[in-house]
Amino acid sequence: MPLSTIISSTYPSVFSTKINPLSLSKNPPQSTTYLPSCIRSGRDEPSNKVNKPITKSSKPDKSLNNLDRRDVLLGLGGLYGATLGRAEAAPITPPDFTTCKTATDDGPPTYCCPPNTDKIKQFVFPSSSSTMRQRKAAHLVTKDMEYVEKYNKAVSLMKQLPDSDPRNFTQQANVHCAYCDGAYTQDGYTVELQVHASWLFFPWHRWYLYFYERILAKLIDDETFALPFWNWDSAQGMTIPHMFVDKTSALYNSLRDASHQPPTIIDLGSSTTSYSTDQELIHSNYATMYKQVVQKATPSLFFGAAYSAGSTAEPGAGSVENVPHNIVHKWTGDPNSPNGQDMGILYSAARDPVFFAHHGNVDRLWTIWKTLPGKNRKDFTDTDYLDASFLFYDENAELVQVKVSDALDPSKLRYGYQEVEILWKTKPTTTTTATTTSMLPTKKALAETSKKKAGEFGSNPRQLGSIIRATVKRPKKSRSKVEKENEEEILVVNLELSRDEFVKFDVYINVEGEKFGGPASSNFIGSSVHLPHSNVMKNMKVNTLLRLPLNEALEDLGAEGDDDVEVIIVPKAGKGEKITIKGIKIEIGV
Ligand code: C2O
Repeated sequence: MPLSTIISSTYPSVFSTKINPLSLSKNPPQSTTYLPSCIRSGRDEPSNKVNKPITKSSKPDKSLNNLDRRDVLLGLGGLYGATLGRAEAAPITPPDFTTCKTATDDGPPTYCCPPNTDKIKQFVFPSSSSTMRQRKAAHLVTKDMEYVEKYNKAVSLMKQLPDSDPRNFTQQANVHCAYCDGAYTQDGYTVELQVHASWLFFPWHRWYLYFYERILAKLIDDETFALPFWNWDSAQGMTIPHMFVDKTSALYNSLRDASHQPPTIIDLGSSTTSYSTDQELIHSNYATMYKQVVQKATPSLFFGAAYSAGSTAEPGAGSVENVPHNIVHKWTGDPNSPNGQDMGILYSAARDPVFFAHHGNVDRLWTIWKTLPGKNRKDFTDTDYLDASFLFYDENAELVQVKVSDALDPSKLRYGYQEVEILWKTKPTTTTTATTTSMLPTKKALAETSKKKAGEFGSNPRQLGSIIRATVKRPKKSRSKVEKENEEEILVVNLELSRDEFVKFDVYINVEGEKFGGPASSNFIGSSVHLPHSNVMKNMKVNTLLRLPLNEALEDLGAEGDDDVEVIIVPKAGKGEKITIKGIKIEIGV
C-alpha cells in the first residue's frame, strides 16, 4: 500500500482515539506533506508524502511529519504534556535566504526572495523613552492632510528606492510573498516555511508591520510616523479608506474590485444574505466581530493551531485570520485579474498599500482580545511559540532576527492604537436578519429538532459538493459554569483544501431544513475561509483543522443537555474537489 493510502486510511482513527485534547491543538494531524511550488521542479503533483532531507547535506534531517509526531505522542500512552512533547518539538527557525526559491510563476515569473547578507543582527527594543507612536483609524485621519501627505510621501520614497534595496516598495511586498508562497524551506527540513494558518499569523504580521513602519518613518525622517489602521469593525470604517482611493496618491492601487469602492460597505462575514439596508449589514458585521473575537475565548481558537519546527504548513487558522481577515482580502482584490490580485491572493497582497492598514486592524484586534473578560484570553506560553523567529530588514537596511516573545507587547515596540468606540462587544440579537423574532423557533422546538438525527459522519472523507449534515457525539454534556469557563467545547473539522483557489464554507448546528440565518443566528457557529497563495500552487492541497467553539451556541439553543449535536456544513465558494471533509469531532479544551 502506498504510504499516502496508509496515512489517509489511518486518519479517522485520530478522532476516535482518546487522547489529551491539547495534543490535537499542539500537533494537529496532517495526512500528507506537499512540497512548496518552488521546490517541486515544475511538477504539479504532490511530490512527496514525508519530510525528506533536503540538499543541505551538512544538516541532519530532523523532519518529523505530523503523523510521525502523533504516533510518537500516542506511543507515549497519551501522556503527552509539556515536557514529553517538547522533547520532539522545537520552535520554527528563521529562513535561510541562500536557499530561497522563486516562489510563484504567475504570468512572468515572480522572484520574491530578499537580497542576501551574512550579517544578521539580533533585535534590540527601541529605548523606553523613545516616542510612543499612535496608529490612528484611517477614516478618522483621512481629512488630516498633513498626515495623509506625509504617508503618501513616505510610500513614494519607498517606491523610489533602488530595486536592490531591501526597503524598496516591491522588495517589501516580496517579504510577504516569500514567507507565504513556499519560497523558504524550514531550516533542516523539507517542509515549507509558512506564516499563515497557524499561531505564527499574528506575531509574524506584527513584526512585518513594525519594520515597514520604521522604514517609512526613516524615509521621511519623522520618528512619530505611524501607519493608519483600516477600522473595518466600526460603521464609519467599513469602506475602503479614502486616502487609499485617491488615484494621484502613492497609496492608490488599480488592482481592486471596482464595485467595492466607497461608499460600498463590506460584508465582513461574506454571508451572501441580502441586506435591505446599510444598517442591517452593519449589524451583521458587528455580529461577525462578536463571534470572531469575543466568542473565541481561548488562545488556540483565536490565534490558530500550534506550528513547530518540522510541522507541515497550515495546521489551522485562528478565528480572525479566517474571518474577517481573509474576507477583507478577497473583497478588496480585483476579481477580473488572475485570482483577485492584488489583495485577493497572498503572493501579491502586500503590493497594495491598503494591506498594511488592513493588517493594522488585525493587529489591533489582538490587543483588544487580551482585554476582554475570560481566564484563557492570554498569549500562548509554549516555548515553541515564544522562541519562533524570523528575519526582516530594518530601517537601516540591516537584517534583523526577531522572535515571537518580543512581539507580545506593542508598548515595548513603542506603538499603540487610537481608542475608538467598539460596538461589537455585546452579544448580537437575531432581529436584524430576514427572519423576525416571532418566526424564530423556540429553544424547545430547536432542541426537539436536534433530536431528528442525521447519520454520523463516519470515516470516509467526503467532498463538499453540497450541504453535509452529520450527528456528532459530545464528550460531555450539561457541564457546569466553572467547567465551561475553564474549557471550551470545540467542534473540530478536519479538512483538505485546495491552495490555488478561494474557498469558503459555513458551519451551523441544529438547523432544521435549509433556513440558514446570518452571522447573528445562534445556529451559525463560524466559517472556514482560505485565500489562494499563488497560481503555481495549482493542484496542491493542504490538510488543516477548523476549530469552532460551541459553549455559547449550545446555551442559546437550549441544547446543553443533548448527547450530540447536528452539524451542517454549507459550501459557499470552491465546491467539490476544492474542499474535502475528512472528519468531524467534538473535544473539550483551550
Ligand atoms: Cu499575510 Cu493578510 O496576509
